[in-house]
Amino acid sequence: MKDELETLIARAEEARARAYAPYSHYQVGAAVRGDNGKIYLGANIENASYGLALCAERNAVAQAILDGCKTLTGLAVVTSTSPPAAPCGMCRQTLAEFARELPIALGNDRGERADTSLAELLPRAFHGSDIPG
Ligand code: THU
Repeated sequence: MKDELETLIARAEEARARAYAPYSHYQVGAAVRGDNGKIYLGANIENASYGLALCAERNAVAQAILDGCKTLTGLAVVTSTSPPAAPCGMCRQTLAEFARELPIALGNDRGERADTSLAELLPRAFHGSDIPG
């Protein structure tokens, strides 16, 4: 039987096929599991104004939050990088807003997989609770 993160990897592969990356040609797919048990997909969406690129991870988080999720329980990201690449700093901080414990699977298009967690990728994260009164 597939484990939870393997399921998310398969959905992230599906999302990656829908990436809009005509400038970098680097396609990224992401899948997050929301606290309602549903899976939300995201892919990177680039722009002719390069700095406006939306990462796959933040795209997936947005879908989950818009559907009413308050927290996330798992994430998978698939790229073409070997070994598998991890989310960028901006995405790590965005994920930290919606999860403390977050198992993360990183995969690539040749089936390699590396498991990690948000705590490992963003130790001592800044949270809303750090803002005084
Ligand atoms: N990208 C992501 O989608 N997620 C990341 O965590 C890193 C970078 C995208 C943004 C851009 O479309 C392309 O990868 C190259 O940076």
